[in-house]
Amino acid sequence: MVILSIIIAFLFSAPLSWAQNQPSAVEAADNRLALTPPMGWYPWNEFGQEPQNEKLIKEMVEAVVSSGLKEVGYTYIGPDEGICFSRDASGKLASNLARYPSGLRGLGDYIHKRGLKYALYTDAGTHTCSKAMPGTRDHEQEDMAAFAAWRADYLKVDWCNTKGQDVARTYTTLRDALYAAGRPIVFSLCSWGEGEPWKWGASVGNLWRTTGDICSPGKADWGNAMKIVAANEKLYQAAGPGHWNDPDMMIAGMDGLSEAQNRSFFSLWCMMAAPLMAGNDLRKMTPSTAQILTNLEAIGINQDPLGIQGRIVRRDGQVEIWAGKRLFDGSQAVLVFNPGVAPAQVQVAWPDIGFAKSTMLYVRDLWTHRTTGPHTGGITTTVAPNDVAFLRISRTSAFPVPPIIVADTYQVSLRGSGSSARKLEGTVTLKTNGSDELPLWKVQPRLPAWLSVAVTSNGKSQTLTNTVSTAGLKQGFYHALVRADNTEPVSGKPISALYYDVDLEITGGVDGRKGD
Ligand code: GLA
Repeated sequence: MVILSIIIAFLFSAPLSWAQNQPSAVEAADNRLALTPPMGWYPWNEFGQEPQNEKLIKEMVEAVVSSGLKEVGYTYIGPDEGICFSRDASGKLASNLARYPSGLRGLGDYIHKRGLKYALYTDAGTHTCSKAMPGTRDHEQEDMAAFAAWRADYLKVDWCNTKGQDVARTYTTLRDALYAAGRPIVFSLCSWGEGEPWKWGASVGNLWRTTGDICSPGKADWGNAMKIVAANEKLYQAAGPGHWNDPDMMIAGMDGLSEAQNRSFFSLWCMMAAPLMAGNDLRKMTPSTAQILTNLEAIGINQDPLGIQGRIVRRDGQVEIWAGKRLFDGSQAVLVFNPGVAPAQVQVAWPDIGFAKSTMLYVRDLWTHRTTGPHTGGITTTVAPNDVAFLRISRTSAFPVPPIIVADTYQVSLRGSGSSARKLEGTVTLKTNGSDELPLWKVQPRLPAWLSVAVTSNGKSQTLTNTVSTAGLKQGFYHALVRADNTEPVSGKPISALYYDVDLEITGGVDGRKGD
């Protein structure tokens, strides 16, 4: 609770409540999603369009779970431009059943049942980049309704084939269509920096690409990644809870990068508060890559609730000293990055990072997991070529990790009969892998009459028990979206918000009528 009080002391002002989740066009994209940078896995960097299909995505879902990525917060997963749908003669989107035999709703259900969230992709123009899929142009409302019906939780909207369209206006139209579709969906803008979305994106989407693609599929490109870092670094003032600069999916763990480069890449993405969308093949990850991608102490910097993007505060020859990233407990993240070809010895002086020289500070090395100190004045570190020293610097020797929330499932499916009144139960368990317990999740009161939800706590894990009474229900399918907030008990300020689906099938009604 001590840590939570500290979190609260620094948290941003409360966004709109869920009750106001359909803001007018002029209000912010304040869907209370992505309060910390989204984490997940996306196929494009490794696979391009091939072989994106249901089998690949399901294998990757299993790999997210078995590799430990899920445990440290990787959540969003789904096909990128994976030739997922076409437009039928009536203008409606239809799943590509040849590639996704369960349909796009079926794939979403699979992902939700594994406690992960579903990411889908489309384009703001007439077609997607390869022209293999239709874009949303002139179909904004119906397409967003389709993504909501497929139960997407995250939507990336690309910018190909948009001749004559204004970037800000187009994405604003899509935002409004998403709100109208009624499902809270993380909105990912992908205009590669066109239209300077960092200037207006915070009121339209949750994240926006700041640059062109980081690589062509299957070809990790360290040099290009470094150019992207340079461009993205300058935009640090635009990032914050719910609205992030997106320097693209990660290439860490792809062929062609050394272990030091993987470590540096991941540290830079953590320091820039960038979305952590892994892009490597998780089914054949080396132990070293797995260790890098699941370093909870590094992830804690990325997932810090203050949401500050770090920046370069000083250069020493080629070496970059990144700081300016104050964390929820008052500590500071510092990254010393050596892009050169020879080892470099560098001093990080306390005034570089905003402390007086005489301050006694502890230093936590986020890669060796060792704490030293207290030191005064600064510290000197030697960094190998293409490697980093990733540090956390604090007045105390405690280095708490912020909340990292992991769910056992995001979908409860119940089946019963309406003719004999019964109670059915399904649970969702939410735990945090952060250092401290969370306050009780608070379930939003607007539930349908057939459903009630009770929350019980067991230390760092809480169970949401969903109880359905079938009495009097007609035959048919019922659905509820349960929203829960985690807020600081006194001020009511948000720590996190989530939602999950409850599906109920009633096989025989009291009077044989169909349900809603
Ligand atoms: C663009 C995007 C990529 C990827 C491809 C798909 O290039 O920037 O991230 O989604 O389209 O075609």
